[in-house]
Amino acid sequence: MKKNLPNRRSVLTSLGVVPFIAACERNYLTTSLTDNVTKDMSAMRVQSRPLIIAHRGASGYRPEHTLESYKLAIDMGADYIEPDLVFTKDGELIARHDIYLSSTTDVADRPEFADRKKTVNGRADWFSEDFTLTEIKTLRARQAYPGRSTEYDGQFSIPSLEEVIALAKMESARAGREIGIYPETKAPGYFKERGYDYARVLIEKLSATGMNLPTSPVFIQSFEKPVLKEMRDGTPLPLVYLTSSISGFRVQEIAEYCQGLGPNKGLLINRDKTSTGLLEKAHEQGLQVHPWTFRNDQLPEIFAMPEEEYQFYFSMGVDGVFTDFPDTSVAARDV
Ligand code: G3P
Ligand code: CA
Repeated sequence: MKKNLPNRRSVLTSLGVVPFIAACERNYLTTSLTDNVTKDMSAMRVQSRPLIIAHRGASGYRPEHTLESYKLAIDMGADYIEPDLVFTKDGELIARHDIYLSSTTDVADRPEFADRKKTVNGRADWFSEDFTLTEIKTLRARQAYPGRSTEYDGQFSIPSLEEVIALAKMESARAGREIGIYPETKAPGYFKERGYDYARVLIEKLSATGMNLPTSPVFIQSFEKPVLKEMRDGTPLPLVYLTSSISGFRVQEIAEYCQGLGPNKGLLINRDKTSTGLLEKAHEQGLQVHPWTFRNDQLPEIFAMPEEEYQFYFSMGVDGVFTDFPDTSVAARDV
């Protein structure tokens, strides 16, 4: 059933872009938590304003998942940088959104790798698990989105998880504020079938870099529940369940092993800008809510400007947003 939002939201909507300071002043921690472990973890995630999570870095401006894209996002004020992770042949984790490589790298133009092309699930492409990290390092990143700048194509390499962590630590020291990482396990089921133990490797790598501590600025996300459940006992870090559908999960069940819900932003509101109730339900269960993906160049028609969209969601009470354009997001939050 539809829930009507408070009147202040219709005021916000009718005025267009209106600062909504109250959203930034509330305590985003919700309290209906059920066990001590979860309470402890969430207590460390109290935040005074919604998080700006740089989706694939500042991917609206640079080829996604490159150190340059992450660095720009940090310079723009992002709180967290988001590496999607896939495996290499030698068991390393690299920052790529897809298991295939042709849409974001120059692999198709490399004659030395021509014979690595194969077909998986009907897609003929080059796949990360057929390349060692050393080989991946010879590739160069490309802009994946039509309409975005290709100026930097061919210039940047593909980073490993360790390099992303090193960047976050270095930039935290340089900027004098803590920059977190928000790794996503991509296709853990696919990799499990090929002998990779995603949960173990990710946790080992985080531990080896001092990032598997209760105080580490890390959220771990996945669309796949099994890997989240596998990780639960091995990490004190908050886990976030991603979903692009309202079916296939129960919020109460997710709250048993996760601290956050990462829904497609469209799942939170109806076309008339009333709440679907999912945000409230998740908060009732003690889950933070981090919707995705906010893009200046793919604005839903119910919003006139990107700033209006951000401020609308901030006013609803989301705890963070995944964005390709961190500068716009920070400006909308920090008015
Ligand atoms: O991880 C949040 C969001 O990034 C999920 O979508 O496909 O861009 O990884 P995707
Ligand atoms: Ca992602």
